[in-house]
Amino acid sequence: MTDAPQTTFEPLVFSGVQPTGNLHLGNYLGAIQRFVAMQDTHPCIYCVVDLHAITATLVQPDLVQQTREVTAAFLAAGIDPKRNIVFNQSRVHEHAELAWVFNCVARLGWLNRMTQFKDKAGKDRENASTGLYAYPNLMAADILVYRATHVPVGEDQKQHLELARDIAQKFNNDFAGRIAELGLGDAFFPLPEPLIQGPATRVMSLRDGTKKMSKSDPSDYSRINLTDDQDTIAQKFRKAKTDPEPLPTEPKGLENRPEADNLVGIYAALSGDTREAILGQYGGGQFSTFKQALTDLAVTKLAPINAEMKRLLADPGHIDAVLKDGGERASAIAAPVMDAVKDVVGFLR
Ligand code: TYM
Repeated sequence: MTDAPQTTFEPLVFSGVQPTGNLHLGNYLGAIQRFVAMQDTHPCIYCVVDLHAITATLVQPDLVQQTREVTAAFLAAGIDPKRNIVFNQSRVHEHAELAWVFNCVARLGWLNRMTQFKDKAGKDRENASTGLYAYPNLMAADILVYRATHVPVGEDQKQHLELARDIAQKFNNDFAGRIAELGLGDAFFPLPEPLIQGPATRVMSLRDGTKKMSKSDPSDYSRINLTDDQDTIAQKFRKAKTDPEPLPTEPKGLENRPEADNLVGIYAALSGDTREAILGQYGGGQFSTFKQALTDLAVTKLAPINAEMKRLLADPGHIDAVLKDGGERASAIAAPVMDAVKDVVGFLR
């Protein structure tokens, strides 16, 4: 036990999306739609993580445009950049600075366990960038440079968030004496809490219900992109893989039926209805009827976002101004945290 006062951290939400390729329904339902909801209960910081975008493929086709597109999606979905902070990561140098310190906190053994690195690096591991390997350390820095307490993400980010908690804990423990000496309380970093909630924490491919919906799937039919028009959405749901049985009447009947479970989960996340209610209405019926209802729902929900994204992208000056303003406000929070980290570590400044 130390005598240092117990530190309490103000609730603060942080999350990020990479500007690599098209945003899809998984990004929207697993993350962006929930970012919007969290604005009602918490102060929020939402980041277009462009530093992360170069870890897998160094030369991006058009990082500026990709960054604007993700920003446009945030705004079109309903994130209010005045009430909250929206910015791109590379503007705030403290992310990279804290990531370096975290490279020295995280252990090789911890990073070696990261399944996403194994998936992304594939067989040609020797040829993966060191940035891809150390990526989770940068992700921890993104969150902790604001001492954020809550992180809404999809299921695929769970392991990275556990690592962020381990990093925060090790930093707090290893520097406990220095943190107390400097009067910074009994812990410098909060242990950020992953918020992996709702019916669509893992939206699956429309071609294979056992694979995650992802930007990198070579088949465009595997995902609904936020930029898809009405006809494309209809066609993709019509072609979506299903099984020969009719829809069950209760959620238990979705077990071991990954494609059916995925489509019902998507419907639930789009409508806000429970799986029970949805199966109460469509259970026992043919997939074609349900797919039509799902298409109508998705179009109703996504068409206004799609239109608003187009409108916003026609005025890049506005988007850039939002990111600049957000960057300045993010820096104002990150700079004193990074200064304190320097004092804790013992760098002369
Ligand atoms: P990224 O850009 O791959 O994905 C952005 C968000 O979308 C979620 N997501 C999904 N959710 C449900 N079903 C899916 N099929 C699906 N695909 C993607 C992701 O879980 C994520 O929430 N490393 C992160 C970005 C990041 C970050 C951070 C997130 C960088 N720093 C700090 C939180 C906090 C990533 O690559 O997300």
